[in-house]
Amino acid sequence: MHLRVRGPDRAVRGPIGVREGTGRSAPAPGPPPASPDVPGGPAPLASRARGQVHADLLTAPEHTGAFRSRSSRARAPGGSAARAVRDLAVQWRRLMSPPFVELRRVSKVYREGDSERVVLHEVDVAIERGEIAVVLGRSGSGKSTLLNLLAGIDLPTAGAVLVDGIDVARLGERERTLLRRRRVGFVFQFFNLIPLLTVAENLLLPLELTAQADARGRARAQALLERVGLADRGDSFPDRLSGGEQQRVAIARALVHDPALVLADEPTGNLDADSARSVLDLLDGLARELGTTVVMVTHSREVVGLADRVFLAQHGRLVEQPR
Ligand SMILES: Nc1ncnc2c1ncn2[C@@H]1O[C@H](COP(=O)(O)OP(=O)(O)OP(=O)(O)O)[C@@H](O)[C@H]1O
Ligand SMILES: [Mg+2]
Repeated sequence: MHLRVRGPDRAVRGPIGVREGTGRSAPAPGPPPASPDVPGGPAPLASRARGQVHADLLTAPEHTGAFRSRSSRARAPGGSAARAVRDLAVQWRRLMSPPFVELRRVSKVYREGDSERVVLHEVDVAIERGEIAVVLGRSGSGKSTLLNLLAGIDLPTAGAVLVDGIDVARLGERERTLLRRRRVGFVFQFFNLIPLLTVAENLLLPLELTAQADARGRARAQALLERVGLADRGDSFPDRLSGGEQQRVAIARALVHDPALVLADEPTGNLDADSARSVLDLLDGLARELGTTVVMVTHSREVVGLADRVFLAQHGRLVEQPR
């Protein structure tokens, strides 16, 4: 099934490609490409979606590095010797490269009138590139606050939030928006697909926002749509899809621009058990295949099985749980 796209280009097919010149084995630092929403910029879909929820949270690529996590290594083909070699490689990489996501003595205090609410208190966390980290915790324990800090949507009261070595709090608002668009993908509890756009158009939006919706980008979007089992629903509007299907589209959208980091806030919170499982398997499989770092917030302990790292948000701290 081919993806119908607007504009002069014809439908395209292709694998979930990594962009040329950005092999994941070596970092590719350098200035980000020109923003699509500065002069020269916004594409039609972006314009149509402007003002819609979270449009500015959608991002694009440029990360590298294929750290393979515990679970993927466990599943990888090959005998125990091959696995041992891979484990050594991972340990070596951990020693040689800085963590991909790091919180250094991060505190977040909300002030309301005269009262203060300490949500996070001197939190230290380091997550390696390619790891899937799950954050559990009671309602109000600061899980979403943590994701907002990682996304640069909110700023810490004290401490440093580093994403790929960049101190997010030191960036201006505009730079933080661009960082999100290019390097972060989001999955939300309520999917947040844009109702006025078709499934295919929703999927292309992160690419449009960063001027990546060329033939290569569309091929990647189409490949992802196939991977999430919805290749024949590209022309449907989101309200014609079930909750699980919408969340599968949301996962494809979170990954379409090849972000370095995916932040997922209760991605299965609105799904029945079967849909939740298929959505999680999909996110897990795709993130590992693409080497994407994932930080996922959930109330569900079922998710723990697929995580490399598990943290419990409690009393302002993030306490790592034994695996
Ligand atoms: N902008 C804000 N101003 C004041 N307090 C806030 C603000 N945002 C969050 N809080 C408070 O910070 C605490 C943590 O909120 P947060 O949304 O991070 O919790 P959570 O762990 O995600 O909860 P849930 O599981 O219910 O989503 C809550 O007590 C909340 O009321
Ligand atoms: Mg929350």
